[in-house]
Amino acid sequence: MYGDDIASVLITEAEIKAKTEELAEIIAKRYPPDSPEGDLLLIGVLKGAIFFMTDFARALPIPTQLEFMAVSSYGSSTSSSGVVRIMKDLDKDIAGRNVLIVEDIIDSGLTLSWLKRNLSTRNPASLEVVTLLRKPDALRTPVDVAHVGFDIPNEFVVGYGLDYAERYRDLPYIGTLNPKVYS
Ligand code: XMP
Ligand code: MG
Repeated sequence: MYGDDIASVLITEAEIKAKTEELAEIIAKRYPPDSPEGDLLLIGVLKGAIFFMTDFARALPIPTQLEFMAVSSYGSSTSSSGVVRIMKDLDKDIAGRNVLIVEDIIDSGLTLSWLKRNLSTRNPASLEVVTLLRKPDALRTPVDVAHVGFDIPNEFVVGYGLDYAERYRDLPYIGTLNPKVYS
């Protein structure tokens, strides 16, 4: 539906679905039912994580509650500076809760490591991260990500929540962009 804007499909819709179910099965085992911490709290980072978050929540065989944050990182638009501003904060107190950050993609890892530090000061009972995608750069940043869907090459990707200039989020797969789109 975007003509020839998409150069290649990196991860198909079926592959995303299978991986989401695999992650959900593994992760559900870490959170015993009826724990005193209450339902697992999923924190999604807007907007990119929305598609993964909703599919992941439905794949998890345990009750979850959903919260969202929006952050923006200062500096150039193509590389993350690590200085992060909260555009939309959580509506709820997370003290004493089991919290799982749900991310679409970890690139440099700077945004996520800032977010983990920020949320840990709010004293959750536990704080882990699941990300659908991770780029090789992230391996150089000491940010502890318990669960990773796919390690992908260092290319700009779109679809399944990920955008270029707010477009392509609605694609059901992850693809790479034809260079003519940004040149
Ligand atoms: P860092 O570098 O802090 O940044 O890990 C992660 C955020 O950068 C965005 N990002 C991308 N967005 N396609 C996108 O649409 C990409 O290939 C890509 N790589 C990084 C994204 O917002 C992510 O949360
Ligand atoms: Mg983006």
